[in-house]
Amino acid sequence: MPKMEKVYLNNPSSEEICLISISATTAHFHASFFQNRIIPAGGNTSFDVVFLARVVGSVENTLFINTSHHGVFTYQ
Ligand SMILES: *[C@@H]1O[C@H](CO)[C@@H](O)[C@H](O)[C@H]1NC(C)=O
Ligand SMILES: *[C@@H]1O[C@H](CO)[C@@H](O)[C@H](O)[C@H]1NC(C)=O
Repeated sequence: MPKMEKVYLNNPSSEEICLISISATTAHFHASFFQNRIIPAGGNTSFDVVFLARVVGSVENTLFINTSHHGVFTYQ
């Protein structure tokens, strides 16, 4: 059965962060696009991650969240 979870991204800095993309390293996970592409200082945004297992057993995945001026964040 597929399972969906919402992930919140919180920006604790004093600069806004512009989000470009999310990519997953395995086929088991899919991420939706961001609710808002710009996270204001102190604000947040969210996206949905869908897990649909393709094999039996445990799997691990890293999501790469690319930003315009703040590099790539990873979320395991
Ligand atoms: C996200 O930001 C909104 C508006 O500033 C706030 O109401 C909400 O509590 C925040 N949610 C999280 C999970 O930080
Ligand atoms: C992140 O986005 C920038 C701007 O589009 C791009 O130049 C860069 O290659 C991307 N980095 C990764 C790891 O996807």
